[in-house]
Amino acid sequence: MPIPTDGDIWLFGYGSLIFKVDFPFLEKRPASIRGWARRLWQGSHDHRGTPEKPGRVLTLIRSPGAVCMGMAFRVEPDVFEHLDRREQNGYLRVSETLTFADGGCADALIYLAGDNNEAYLGPASEQEIASHIACCCGPSGPNDEYVLRLAEALRALGEEDEHIFTIERYLHQMAQAGSDAGHP
Ligand code: BEZ
Repeated sequence: MPIPTDGDIWLFGYGSLIFKVDFPFLEKRPASIRGWARRLWQGSHDHRGTPEKPGRVLTLIRSPGAVCMGMAFRVEPDVFEHLDRREQNGYLRVSETLTFADGGCADALIYLAGDNNEAYLGPASEQEIASHIACCCGPSGPNDEYVLRLAEALRALGEEDEHIFTIERYLHQMAQAGSDAGHP
């Protein structure tokens, strides 16, 4: 999706863009999009895993009736040079209508990894996803840290995301079982 050439440019973050804001922005406002749900179904070769052992990171799936809360950033067009490089592992920019938490709507760009990209891993049970995440690590850090920071950021937004919070719970249980067994 090309970057709009007139009017405000809004970027909607539903994952790491909420908790890793390493780009300049003019304004940020909590916002949501309708009909999409977060899923840890995208493989990560470059941030939270490696080509040999890809981690799991977010994408969005169509989910009629769902509301996905996140953060909208008003940005300058040149921010996408950095973000397109940061999010190059299977993500494309798409356009969607967002609703600001304090009212009003705008068109926004979103990074989305479809099920036809090479890095896509697809569905698995939340327990399987947590077991996978617990043993992956990449240049941006441990895969479990990604989920724990995401869950914290979602809670701060008042978002109840059952998929993410269930996986977070499994990760805590696994870490506790590991430390009970004397593993670091
Ligand atoms: C986001 O936070 O919007 C995001 C999630 C996954 C990849 C790129 C961006």
